[in-house]
Amino acid sequence: MTLPLAELHLHIEGTLEADLLVTLARRNGVPLPSYDPTELTARYADFADLQAFLDVYYANLAVLRTEQDFHDLAAAYLARAAAAGVRRAEIFCDPQTHLRNGVPLEVMFGGLSAALAEAPVSADLIVCFLRDLGGDAAEDLLRQALPFREHFIGVGLDSAEVGYPPRLFRAAYEIAAAEGLHRVAHAGEEGGPEYVREALDELGVERIDHGNRALEDPDLVARLRDERVPLTVCPLSNVALKGVPRIEEHPLPRMLELDLVVTVNSDDPAYFGGGIDANVAALRTALGMTDDDLAVLAANSFEAAFIDDDDRASRL
Ligand code: HPA
Ligand code: ZN
Repeated sequence: MTLPLAELHLHIEGTLEADLLVTLARRNGVPLPSYDPTELTARYADFADLQAFLDVYYANLAVLRTEQDFHDLAAAYLARAAAAGVRRAEIFCDPQTHLRNGVPLEVMFGGLSAALAEAPVSADLIVCFLRDLGGDAAEDLLRQALPFREHFIGVGLDSAEVGYPPRLFRAAYEIAAAEGLHRVAHAGEEGGPEYVREALDELGVERIDHGNRALEDPDLVARLRDERVPLTVCPLSNVALKGVPRIEEHPLPRMLELDLVVTVNSDDPAYFGGGIDANVAALRTALGMTDDDLAVLAANSFEAAFIDDDDRASRL
């Protein structure tokens, strides 16, 4: 039985399955290292760390060229997500990657928004800043994106974490706040608890994406619990990127025991072993989580979602 929930940590670019990657490469005449989906997927089996994954992820995104491509990518994810029990999806996109590839914002927003409008589930976009491009680039992107304001509900911060602390993005997040945009940020995936603390204090984020390393700081844990700051946790991603050695050692059960508002999410399902259903299955089989535990995760996901109270009460 599928568990109805909200998926709050999902990079649309990370849903590019090898089959669609090959289709789009052929459609657009973009070279790939292999045109065999099985061979391509085999390359995802052993990432040394976040950067090793990001290198493959960014290279593959050269196949996304047209509105139709972005539409097909999002439509495929939304169909799979609906089948996996997702009722609400808050979807990250990385416009700076596509701009770098010569794809204008209107192409990306046009294609993604068309797919969201047809979706079988409630869905909205969150524009992410690539932290390794720095704070000025983030501000510049946000100003370029504001004419497309109706296409997105918030901003986030992703890509290489260590060396790019949240405070670098303060100005961009201030503009976002003034525009009434929601604010989230990846923090504590590879960076230490200070990244989580800074995301709260300097950026005013409403949720933390990942947040695992917050557990190293008891005062921060108490704050996250008391302020009910949601953590969008991604179990299979953490194992794939070596933040957690084995799924059996994942801290999610401990996070629940600590009364943190944790949710389960798939992050980049094409690369990390499957969607939210595969993550939920791993929690059951490897971590012994019960239906009651999973019901708490589902309730947390609707509490943490950027939806109104009527939709929250009815779970959409
Ligand atoms: N972490 C940071 N940045 C990302 C990720 C991730 O897991 N996926 C796509 N961009
Ligand atoms: Zn992520």
